[in-house]
Amino acid sequence: MTYQRTLVTSALPYINGVKHLGNLTGSMLPADVYARYCRARGRETLFICATDEHGTPAELAALEEGLPIAEYCAKWWAIQKKLCEGFGLSFDYFGRSSSAQNRELTQAFAKVLWERGHIEERTTRQVYSKADARFLPDRYVIGTCPHCGYDRARGDQCENCTRVLDPADLIEPRSALSGSKEIELRGSKHLFLKQAAFSDDLRKWIGTRTEWPNLVSSIALKWLDEGLQDRGITRDLAWGVPVNAHDWGPNPDGKRPDVEGLKGKVFYVWFDAPIEYIGATKEWADEAPGSNSRDWKAWWQGDKAQSEVRYVQFMGKDNVPFHTVGFPVTILGSGEKWKLVDQIKGFNWLNYYGGKFSTSQKRGVFMDAALEILPPDYWRWYLIANAPESADSSFTWQHFADTVNKDLADVLGNFMNRTLKFTEKQFGPVIPAGGAPGALEARLIEQLEQRIAAYTQHLEDMQFRKAAAELRAAWVLGNEYLAEGAPWTSIKASKDAAALCVRTAINLLRVFAALATPVIPFAAAKMAQALQLDAKALKWPGAIAQELDMLRPGHAFVPPATGDVLFAKLLPEQIAAWEARFGASGA
Ligand code: MF3
Ligand code: ZN
Repeated sequence: MTYQRTLVTSALPYINGVKHLGNLTGSMLPADVYARYCRARGRETLFICATDEHGTPAELAALEEGLPIAEYCAKWWAIQKKLCEGFGLSFDYFGRSSSAQNRELTQAFAKVLWERGHIEERTTRQVYSKADARFLPDRYVIGTCPHCGYDRARGDQCENCTRVLDPADLIEPRSALSGSKEIELRGSKHLFLKQAAFSDDLRKWIGTRTEWPNLVSSIALKWLDEGLQDRGITRDLAWGVPVNAHDWGPNPDGKRPDVEGLKGKVFYVWFDAPIEYIGATKEWADEAPGSNSRDWKAWWQGDKAQSEVRYVQFMGKDNVPFHTVGFPVTILGSGEKWKLVDQIKGFNWLNYYGGKFSTSQKRGVFMDAALEILPPDYWRWYLIANAPESADSSFTWQHFADTVNKDLADVLGNFMNRTLKFTEKQFGPVIPAGGAPGALEARLIEQLEQRIAAYTQHLEDMQFRKAAAELRAAWVLGNEYLAEGAPWTSIKASKDAAALCVRTAINLLRVFAALATPVIPFAAAKMAQALQLDAKALKWPGAIAQELDMLRPGHAFVPPATGDVLFAKLLPEQIAAWEARFGASGA
């Protein structure tokens, strides 16, 4: 089945604070590489992301910064947006889950789910703090984990044993706000999404998703096999999408919601966050009113979206249940023709020296510091070439520097530099004519075609490590060709032979720029620029014999200035300084 349009979403980064390289490499970066690849193939592509702004982590972080939550979110949205741009993440839109669009959509989904009988009310026992005069949902309460005895477990999850908790389960609970231990359990009305009833439908749907990677389908099926639980989708919080029960009609049993009992509550962050994929698309459309090209519904709803759009999601493995069960139940339960995800690319963890990257402990490298140190493509290459796909992978400064030096500086950068400098010296900054391609070129073409076909297929399959390895192998062919063609030697006997070699190499550089665009777009643009080409106009390479004949003799290029390299080699003293600054040992 060929699709006309590709919708790409990355898991929405939490609003609180700068994201670390693990967050980046587990969703936003590979989503960007894939979206860029789809565009390079000429497919109509929409790439959507946003900040995930609700929930207790955001509220607590705002409290810590002493800012009203709305201001806090506005501030951190702007910071995150800028950092994403710094990394070249080419979102068509970067929205906010606190937008009016998401509020309306979330409330509309809740209404239809209630009216179709998929939401029910339950009175549950919630942790209430007398000192704070409020309920303490999720992370607002801290206590001892009933499973492992860890004494600083948070109400939603134990950091030590990773078990999901209910705040009421904590032993010796105390308020994260005031520290008060004057805690009691009080009854409170809440809404539950009746997920359990969707087990069979989900299983059937997942059965049709044969292209899902094993990591994703095994997590999804594990949840189904363990028996789906109904899920609480409301919280006693002020910040979030307000529960709009007053708008709801009767459910199929003729029951109306307890408007009074649900007053002042908001939806749980994991209910509204995925809806923001749609919400952000609407934000994108609303940003350009009257624009025919921004028809958000055409991407999400109705028969056209079902048949024309291929929807691909990117996320870390912890997010998989919410995207294979939670959000699909919202969609299926609505009975409306919303687009379900087609393909999910899930990732394992990127670790830092074998331990966890940690936002709360400021452990590892964060997006702002990374960009301070080096340009984005150094990071993009490393993170894609070492994407934690089949297993977790581990960042160390030495490994990072080795990868950059070997692949980018020695192989790609060196190829570009040698080619352009030598040509300029011998022929001036124009492509020389030279003779007709011979056996050496024929072999180059044959090998390159294989590499490019494999690279393309890996990108198509979202196998990023393998893709990077093939791309690198294609660059290596370039260096081997130069070494065998040895124009610096052959020029003594035949200017024509040397000219053929550099003419081919410069054309090769153009092919490399096109191929590299999804992964290292800044370097690709620089390569194109040196050839006086517009990077955006570069097409995905077709038949290589023709590709190597595209830039004709007489085409002028801009040779690199002295000391100007595509990628600088990272030095031992730099590595040592980064190790000292960021720490270089396990957790
Ligand atoms: N903020 C979540 C995380 O970082 C991801 C939310 S994805 C969405 O784990 F689907 F809910 F939006
Ligand atoms: Zn525990």
